[in-house]
Amino acid sequence: MFTTKLTTLLALPLFAAAYINDVQQFSGTYTATPTTSTFPVTFNTASTKVEFMDLSVSFGIAARDDHADNTTLGAPLNNVDLIALNHANTGPGSFTVDVPISASDLYAGAGSYVLTAAVLRGTGMSGVLTFRADSFSIPFNATIADSDA
Ligand SMILES: *[C@@H]1O[C@H](CO)[C@@H](O)[C@H](O)[C@H]1NC(C)=O
Ligand SMILES: *[C@@H]1O[C@H](CO)[C@@H](O)[C@H](O)[C@H]1NC(C)=O
Repeated sequence: MFTTKLTTLLALPLFAAAYINDVQQFSGTYTATPTTSTFPVTFNTASTKVEFMDLSVSFGIAARDDHADNTTLGAPLNNVDLIALNHANTGPGSFTVDVPISASDLYAGAGSYVLTAAVLRGTGMSGVLTFRADSFSIPFNATIADSDA
């Protein structure tokens, strides 16, 4: 047991930099309520040799028909500060953020939507990063509930 722990500690520096490389797809139907419903978004992270820092994620929602390509953000929902949440440089793994999507965000009513996560990140030389944005899409079907559960 002690050996395993020690090995883990020693191995950590090898995974010093990690960045969001994928998002897990949603299965089933999302139910939007008037105010309290949230959509769980799970990001997968992978290790890199070059320095990467994921700074923030901006979430947007678009009806399926309005989602032209991977530069479509749609209607803005909210921003998540990955530095404040300690997810800027996580090592390989995954983490989940809950995105508030209420009934009024489903601007085309119940139906098919695409949730877009636009990740702003810095990469390059430590301390002097350059930035870029990458988008990750989650298609989902939604229904509307009359009251908060
Ligand atoms: C959209 O997809 C293309 C092709 O996979 C990729 O080169 C581009 O970086 C993507 N755009 C964004 C904003 O992620
Ligand atoms: C949404 O519903 C349509 C019609 O039932 C189905 O074909 C499609 O696979 C569903 N999409 C998702 C992401 O579940």
